[in-house]
Amino acid sequence: MKQLFYPFDISLESEMKEPLDFNRRSRTKDVDRVFRAEITNVIRLTEMEKLFQVRIMDDAERQRFTFLPGQFLMLELPGYGEIPISISSAPTNKGFLELCIRRAGTVTGALHKARRGARVGLRGPFGTHFPMEKMKGNNVLLIAGGLGLAPLRAPIFHVIQNRSDYRNVHIFYGTGSPEQLLFDYQYDEWRRIDDIEMEVIVERPDPNWKGPVGLITKLLDHVEINPRETYAIVCGPPIMFKFVCARLSDLGVPMQRMFVSLERRMHCGMGKCCRCNVGSTFTCMDGPVFDYWSVMNLKEAI
Ligand SMILES: Cc1cc2nc3c(=O)[nH]c(=O)nc-3n(C[C@H](O)[C@H](O)[C@H](O)COP(=O)(O)OP(=O)(O)OC[C@H]3O[C@@H](n4cnc5c(N)ncnc54)[C@H](O)[C@@H]3O)c2cc1C
Ligand code: FES
Repeated sequence: MKQLFYPFDISLESEMKEPLDFNRRSRTKDVDRVFRAEITNVIRLTEMEKLFQVRIMDDAERQRFTFLPGQFLMLELPGYGEIPISISSAPTNKGFLELCIRRAGTVTGALHKARRGARVGLRGPFGTHFPMEKMKGNNVLLIAGGLGLAPLRAPIFHVIQNRSDYRNVHIFYGTGSPEQLLFDYQYDEWRRIDDIEMEVIVERPDPNWKGPVGLITKLLDHVEINPRETYAIVCGPPIMFKFVCARLSDLGVPMQRMFVSLERRMHCGMGKCCRCNVGSTFTCMDGPVFDYWSVMNLKEAI
């Protein structure tokens, strides 16, 4: 019989045949429903980013609303427009949703001027999610660069709240400079959780910085992992996850066990407008979470 050549580890073939969540229909139900919501708190994180606590106003809708780590919302600021934003809070938090938003242009600029009590519209949740179930019983590397800590926060909360389901957990975070660090008030709290290691690195330190200096890949030089029992979630700009995933590959972590979140410009969030597609793949519905193997095979994805 002819020997087939597999450019990947064939023992992982079953993982590759099993898509993350193929039920597009279930993920797009209620896409037209706009939840009326209110900004209940605004926390300034850095010069460019603010954390918005947003509450769905109807009690029953708020209780019913659920999402999975990695999913996003379409947030409408009436009169300005609608934008995709990752949900940055714990999936179990029923009181409010947290959205970490960088000031980038029209909608985000207007949002940054919004105060407590401002009304917004929310649609969603949309998209694929990080496969937290599949990761159970394994080591988990949670890696973010810059604004990537926003989508990483939901899986971090999930792992913390279900700590016994996972083995060793490492959080690695890197930014350009110390003043760009997001959620720095939470690092000590996360470090105090049983067996969670967190390391933070910056490229350009200030005189007060006592931690490591360099690119985030440097933090992976010291990590001891069993690649066969390790999953990784990597969030950040494409250039960062390209280098991080290459480094993880060198360490032996299969690309099917690395998960990234792709950002594309989006309009409808429901596979109708073709704003977000890469070839025949719609980032809003087939993503934004993909395993790195799929991303590598998606032309022009990164
Ligand atoms: C799935 C997903 C999740 C996201 N999660 C977050 C989040 O948690 N926090 C956050 O701050 N931002 C997030 N973004 C990016 C956010 O949607 C954009 O910054 C926002 O749409 C910009 O809208 P605007 O009207 O303020 O800017 P515009 O006036 O429309 O544009 C201003 C500038 O931003 C650029 N831009 C617009 N959209 C994007 C985009 N999607 N990616 C890269 N550059 C863009 C434009 O090219 C332009 O240079 C996410 C995007 C996606 C697709
Ligand atoms: S955002 Fe419209 S098709 Fe994806």
